[in-house]
Amino acid sequence: MSNRRRLAILGASGHGKVVADIAIHAGWQDLVFYDDAWPEKTRHEHWEVQGTLPMLLRDLSSFEGVVVAIGHNAIREAKLDALLAHGARVVSLVHPRATVSPMACLGPGSVVMAGAVINAFAELGMGSIVNSAATVDHDCRLGACVHVAPGANVAGDVEIGRTSWIGAGAVVRQGVAIGEGVMVGAGAAVVSDVAGHLVVAGVPARPLSPANGGDDDIPPDASNVLRFDLLSPQGRS
Ligand SMILES: CC(C)(COP(=O)(O)OP(=O)(O)OC[C@H]1O[C@@H](n2cnc3c(N)ncnc32)[C@H](O)[C@@H]1OP(=O)(O)O)[C@@H](O)C(=O)NCCC(=O)NCCS
Repeated sequence: MSNRRRLAILGASGHGKVVADIAIHAGWQDLVFYDDAWPEKTRHEHWEVQGTLPMLLRDLSSFEGVVVAIGHNAIREAKLDALLAHGARVVSLVHPRATVSPMACLGPGSVVMAGAVINAFAELGMGSIVNSAATVDHDCRLGACVHVAPGANVAGDVEIGRTSWIGAGAVVRQGVAIGEGVMVGAGAAVVSDVAGHLVVAGVPARPLSPANGGDDDIPPDASNVLRFDLLSPQGRS
């Protein structure tokens, strides 16, 4: 039997390519993708796409780790919930050129990209993404499946609700509270609290509209992501 470390990556997307790159840097040797686009999609660059989520749930015992590489925050959360309910060894991936304080806490399935900084006593929920060169400062509290996009800076003691998305290059002032399912536009400066389910943008950030462009709802065309409900924890109908 092979003693190579095998990692399953759910989500054969552009984000999945970056996640694969971090996994290689972090020492994972065999990478296998799963995606609900299988069997139409059987390759992702030079990696094999081996099946759908229900098939991954059946294959779990052949992997030392599983990570979800889906950019949509609510879908990532639903997939992680399913994997954890089935006992998957959900791992976090930290690029070797990211800086994560040993006093920070990362939830399972988090991904921290190159150049990111996570400072002391920050707490990140499961499935967090801290993208390239983004920063999350001391004492921040991020709910499940928050995405801090490339180059965004979240100052100290900020609270961000689950599935919110801080856009590329945005800045969040210290002590601010951002609700669930919020979309902060690229380049915004968030200087005061933001209620849940809003899209805000600009300097200072102001609401654009209710968050129909936000990331807290699972879109209708993604209803198949819930097919795993048909499987028992052992992977049998
Ligand atoms: C804020 C955002 C979600 C709005 O998207 P949208 O609902 O599709 O909005 P539209 O592009 O239709 O723009 C609506 C209006 O908001 C303005 N607007 C959009 N994004 C803006 C931003 N980031 N800052 C300031 N104004 C913005 C537009 O100019 C437009 O103004 P107008 O009505 O006067 O013409 C989106 O533009 C954005 O910034 N997303 C973040 C992208 C990102 O960070 N990606 C990282 C990938 S890892």
